[in-house]
Amino acid sequence: MSRVLEADALGKIYQVSRGLFRAARPLHAVDGVSFTLDAGRTLAIVGESGCGKSTLARQVTLIETPSSGRLLIDGKDATAPTPAERKALRRAVQMVFQNPYGSLNPRRTIGAALAEPLVINTDLTRADRDAAVAAMLSRVGLRPEHAERYPHMFSGGQRQRIAIARALMLRPRILVADEPVSALDVSVQAQVLNLLMDLQEDMGLAMVFISHDLGVVRFVADEVLVMYLGRPVEQAPAATLFDTPRHPYTRALLAARPKIDAGERAHRPPPLTGELPSPLNPPSGCVFRTRCPLATDRCAAERPASRAIGGAMVACHFAD
Ligand SMILES: Nc1ncnc2c1ncn2[C@@H]1O[C@H](COP(=O)(O)OP(=O)(O)OP(=O)(O)O)[C@@H](O)[C@H]1O
Ligand SMILES: [Mg+2]
Repeated sequence: MSRVLEADALGKIYQVSRGLFRAARPLHAVDGVSFTLDAGRTLAIVGESGCGKSTLARQVTLIETPSSGRLLIDGKDATAPTPAERKALRRAVQMVFQNPYGSLNPRRTIGAALAEPLVINTDLTRADRDAAVAAMLSRVGLRPEHAERYPHMFSGGQRQRIAIARALMLRPRILVADEPVSALDVSVQAQVLNLLMDLQEDMGLAMVFISHDLGVVRFVADEVLVMYLGRPVEQAPAATLFDTPRHPYTRALLAARPKIDAGERAHRPPPLTGELPSPLNPPSGCVFRTRCPLATDRCAAERPASRAIGGAMVACHFAD
């Protein structure tokens, strides 16, 4: 299997200004994230709001440059590319967002929106572009005549199909989907997820799938990376993570899911309590310790390194 994406200790720091007379402060939005991703596989990134999921996505899609660490796309260094390299690499990585309306120009037809990447990046003739657009529309479950219509004429689910179609026009190697179904009705979510997985299989796409919804993650993921305040806390194959969550944060996230089964409820760890700390002023040592049922003095003093436990990588002093 071919490795298409590799992140090694990736970090992103923003300088956050606090007004005219105070110095800007560094905010570690992503800190020390490492993973690999092969063609045809899905890595899910989960964690609460503000844990750095979208920041990580912006580094992987080359929208921003990482502050530290290394990023390889198709074996090529994508950490600090020249403009020419960036252009080539960006063809390989495409993105789908939560709100497809935001990424579609309301005054352009769907056909024009889908053809645009081909106009910019290829020498295809008008006729070939139209044919490629029609083929892609049917591939995502729409009809060729939809090319003449405008974004507002579609439902939310159809618009997300259009956004997916647009992202795939240049046959990328990697698709980064940031909460792609979170804004859709539950009844439509499964259809769009199934479409994504079909397309992934057809095209051998590697997918980075960002979601706060563990039900959705369980459905699509091969690997899961759990983040907390920018730090990776647990990484494991999806089956391992859902079967044997190791990090107290992962366990709390799983416990927070609504469940009907009373037997399962009885065995659950308590759900998360306490406030999420400010990322501008994270706790010393383990950043999760202020909300952790296992925390001791050691957790305040010493940042836990990620270590292998039973097929998972877990950053916790006491996970075993
Ligand atoms: N351009 C920026 N400048 C300063 N801080 C930023 C910037 N972008 C993100 N942040 C901060 O970085 C942290 C991570 O934000 P990010 O948007 O990546 O989180 P997220 O996991 O995607 O959250 P959500 O689930 O709400 O989308 C947050 O504390 C956020 O306020
Ligand atoms: Mg986000």
